[in-house]
Amino acid sequence: MPCPHCRIGPSILNADLSCLAEQSQALLDKGADYLHLDVMDGHFVPNITFGAPLVKCLRKRIPDAFFDLHMMVAEPEKWVDDMADAGANMYTFHLEAAKDPRALIDQIRKAKMQVGIAIKPNTPVEDVLELAELADMVLVMTVEPGFGGQSFMEHMMPKVEKIRARYPEKLIEVDGGVGLKTIGHCAKAGANMIVSGTAVVRSDDPKSVMDEMRSMVNQARDSWPQP
Ligand code: DX5
Ligand code: ZN
Repeated sequence: MPCPHCRIGPSILNADLSCLAEQSQALLDKGADYLHLDVMDGHFVPNITFGAPLVKCLRKRIPDAFFDLHMMVAEPEKWVDDMADAGANMYTFHLEAAKDPRALIDQIRKAKMQVGIAIKPNTPVEDVLELAELADMVLVMTVEPGFGGQSFMEHMMPKVEKIRARYPEKLIEVDGGVGLKTIGHCAKAGANMIVSGTAVVRSDDPKSVMDEMRSMVNQARDSWPQP
C-alpha cells in the first residue's frame, strides 16, 4: 500500500452553526473530503460545542460524507455507542483523557467505527507511538484544543515526522491553525488528513483553498518515507 493520499476535512466550528447542514453541504460540494466535527464538553477543554443528538441530525441531512468526530471530552468511553448510533465514521479520542486506551480502542472497533488517537501539544509523541499500531489515524494537535482561529505551532512537526517514519501507511491528521500559510510544513512532515477551520470557512473561495492545500500535500507524498 502506498502512502495515503491527502484528504481535506473542514472544521465547522467557525461556521454559522444555526445552518450547519447547509454550510457542511456547501463545503462538501466545494470538494471537502470529509467533515471534522469538534465535540467539546467544558471539562477536557474550556469550551462547549455539541454532542451526539446534533451529529445524528446532521447525518440525516448528509447521508454519505465521512464524519471524523474529534472528541475533546473528559470521559471518551462514555460516548462511543451514542456517536456510532448517530452516524460517526471515525471516533478520535484524546489519549490524555483515556483511562484505558486499549479497551477504548476495542470498544470503538466493536461499535464499527474507525479509531483516531489525538495528542495535545504538550504530550510527547513517544506516548502514542506504540498504540498507533492499533489505530487508523493519529491526530497531532497544532494548537491547544478548545477554540478555532489560533496560531499554528510549527514545532509540532517533528511529531508528525516521527509517526510518518514509523508508519508510512497510517493516516496522520493535523488540526489547528492550518491554512495556505502553514500547509507547507504539514505536507513536508507527512500529514495527510488536513483539518482546516478558519482558513477554509472564512475564505472568499473555500474551494481553491482546499484544492491548493490538497495538491501541496499530494506533491509532498513522494518525499515521505515509502512503505
Ligand atoms: C480546536 C479544534 C479545531 C479548530 C480548527 O480545538 O479542534 O478543529 O476548529 O480551527 P482552525 O483551523 O481555525 O484553527
Ligand atoms: Zn478538531
